[in-house]
Amino acid sequence: MELKLIDVWHSYNGVNYVLRGVNIAFSKPGVYVVIGPNGSGKTTLLKIIALMIKPTKGTVLVDGVDYWSLRDEGLKNNLKKNVVYVHDKPLVFRGSVEYNISLGIKSRNPWEWSKVVEYYMSRYDILNIRSESVFKISTGQAKIVTILRALLLGPKILLLDEPFTFLDKDRTRLLLEDIVELSKEKVIIIATHYMYRELDEVKNQVIELPLLTQ
Ligand SMILES: Nc1ncnc2c1ncn2[C@@H]1O[C@H](COP(=O)(O)OP(=O)(O)O)[C@@H](O)[C@H]1O
Ligand SMILES: [Mg+2]
Repeated sequence: MELKLIDVWHSYNGVNYVLRGVNIAFSKPGVYVVIGPNGSGKTTLLKIIALMIKPTKGTVLVDGVDYWSLRDEGLKNNLKKNVVYVHDKPLVFRGSVEYNISLGIKSRNPWEWSKVVEYYMSRYDILNIRSESVFKISTGQAKIVTILRALLLGPKILLLDEPFTFLDKDRTRLLLEDIVELSKEKVIIIATHYMYRELDEVKNQVIELPLLTQ
């Protein structure tokens, strides 16, 4: 799947532009890092790439098709399923840790999902809270739950918005390892205000957003 942004501009209020003329293409698997200070538009850009926000101006091409000019909602939904965005603040659903991580993979892999989920819960040291309600766990633990849920969905393009913010050192290192491994097959787009050495070493491209002053 190829996703391309051509001369993309975005304004929330019709006066000030958060993004001005962004051109990027994601075709090859790999790590793409969106870097910039708070307020520079990283989240906005990720949501545009994730087909969640229609940009004010410009074109978003998915496999050569202008996504926002499509009328067929079924086709739009099918394209959208390939792109998964993980919010910077963990967004969890009522239920246990294990339930939340399993949400996507269950239908995709009906035979082996529980083994895979178990492997990742053990890897990230959350087996002991597998039955806890997600509303009772720490923000860092909830963050890992939402990232694992997305990762196990197996999207073609995975977008992680500030994935490391609430994570401790050990989980940060594990996630960096998994991102590097996964990026051999998939496009992984990471918004961060800090460039980790591990990402710097493997990145395909860095997209640097400047802080705009009106
Ligand atoms: N839903 C929204 N409505 C209005 N303004 C917004 C909205 N989301 C973000 N903004 C504004 O757009 C700018 C860029 O925000 P954002 O994309 O979240 O940047 P970053 O993720 O780099 O911190 C900020 O000035 C922010 O206040
Ligand atoms: Mg942000």
